[in-house]
Amino acid sequence: MSVSITRRFALVLFAATVVAAALPAPAVAQERTVNDGVYTDAQATRGRAAYRAQCAACHATNLFGGEMAPGLKGSGFTGGWSGATLWELADFTNATMPQDAPGRLTAQELNDIIAYILRENDYPEGAEELAIDLANQGDPIRIE
Ligand code: HEC
Repeated sequence: MSVSITRRFALVLFAATVVAAALPAPAVAQERTVNDGVYTDAQATRGRAAYRAQCAACHATNLFGGEMAPGLKGSGFTGGWSGATLWELADFTNATMPQDAPGRLTAQELNDIIAYILRENDYPEGAEELAIDLANQGDPIRIE
C-alpha cells in the first residue's frame, strides 16, 4: 500500500520534472554587470576631460578624493555602490553633482564621466557606449 503511493508520487514528480524541463525559460530582463564591457574607451577619454573640468576640483585628478570629497576610485567607492545599478549611480550623480552646481551635466557628459569612472576602476571596456537614460531605467547594469 504505502509502496504504491510512494511510487505514484514518484511518477507524478517525474512527470512534473519532464514538463518543467520542456517549458521555455521565462523571459527575464537582460541583466548585465559593469564587468560586461558597458562603455567604450573613446567615451571614457571624453569623460576624463569632462571630469577634469567639473569634478576634479573636489574629487581630485586621480579620483581618490581628499578633504573636499570622497574618492570615486577603489574598493571604498565600488564597495559602497555594490549591488546598486549604474542608473542609480547616474541618477544620484545627476541630482547632486557637481555639488556646487547640481543638474548642470548634460546626459552625454553624465554618461561619459561614468564611463571614465568605470575605466579608472578597471572595469573592462566594450564595443558600445554607455547610454543611460535618466527618464527610463531600462535593463539594469549592476555594480559589483
Ligand atoms: C564642490 C565639490 C564637488 C564637486 C565639484 C563634485 N563633487 Fe561629488 N561629492 C562631493 C562631496 C562633498 C561628496 C560627499 C557627499 C555626498 O555624497 O553628497 C560627493 C559625493 C559624490 C559621489 C558619491 C560618492 C560615494 O562614495 O558614494 C559621486 C558618485 C560623486 N560625488 C560624483 C561627482 C561627479 C561625477 C562630479 C563631477 C560632475 C562631482 N562629484 C563633482 C563634492 C563634489
